[in-house]
Amino acid sequence: MRIKKAVFPIAGLGTRFLPATKAMPKEMLPVVDKPIIQYAVEEALASGIEQIIFVTGSGKGALEDHFDTNLRLEKTLEERKKTDLLQAVKSIVPSASCIVYTRQSEPLGLGHAIWCARDIVGDEPFAVLLADDLIQSEVPVLYQMINEFDRLRASMMAIVEVPKEETSRYGIIEGEEAFNGTFQVKSMVEKPEPENAPSNLAVIGRYILTPKIFKLLGKKQKGAGGEIQLTDAMSALLEEQPIFGYKFKGRRFDCGDKAGFQMANIAFSLERPDIREQLLPGLKKLIN
Ligand code: UTP
Repeated sequence: MRIKKAVFPIAGLGTRFLPATKAMPKEMLPVVDKPIIQYAVEEALASGIEQIIFVTGSGKGALEDHFDTNLRLEKTLEERKKTDLLQAVKSIVPSASCIVYTRQSEPLGLGHAIWCARDIVGDEPFAVLLADDLIQSEVPVLYQMINEFDRLRASMMAIVEVPKEETSRYGIIEGEEAFNGTFQVKSMVEKPEPENAPSNLAVIGRYILTPKIFKLLGKKQKGAGGEIQLTDAMSALLEEQPIFGYKFKGRRFDCGDKAGFQMANIAFSLERPDIREQLLPGLKKLIN
């Protein structure tokens, strides 16, 4: 029951970033010099994932090109002796047959996008990563979760504490702390208003799911926003199997949101000594 497959739902429209995302996939927006999807793929590979399953939609071609070889670019970099850049460009391409693509023909919701990967995943537990949630951590978050899964052998999702007034942006769990930082979920609700939220523990875009979820997603029940929601299928799964919320170690940025995306750029830039040196004085000037 090792977690070998990871699903990346990337078929959403990215409307919060229009007009930037009119012709460019949201997942290709760069944080410093890497598209956000690349951070998530690197996290998965560093966590032992062997198969990357992209659920794409129309207009996502740039993403497929990004993870493919660009012979013309490589040849030019080689001729110009740009060895570091050549290495960086080559290292993006995972080994042959590691990436599989499937399509979600209509953006019917996150739950539906995951359901589209059912035949590729098959009958084994699998991970789901939403690239929008970019996480700075010493140990890759998915690796932390896979370790916890080895102990719990149950569906899990990463959770963070959010300010009460922001609950309507997330799936929120009601849970009881079973181990240090791991909560057994009692119920969950998608985007509740603060007065109806059972807690301030919000689900973010890292999951490990048992294959039973596909049967529940297959019912295609519409939930919040008229979309087929993963949270609703997980609520139904809860009646059959335990589910846990895992408070990971790391700092998370919501790159699906404009302010969160800018914060991620600043935080990741400050980690880079070459950029930090120029950025800090500039930032100080801007703030004063
Ligand atoms: P979001 O809720 O962030 O939606 O989806 P979005 O379309 O990407 O962006 P906005 O809200 O319009 O700005 C969370 C994740 O689920 C995927 C998205 O690509 C994103 O990774 N998704 C969402 C799908 O793959 N299909 C869908 O039908 C909806």
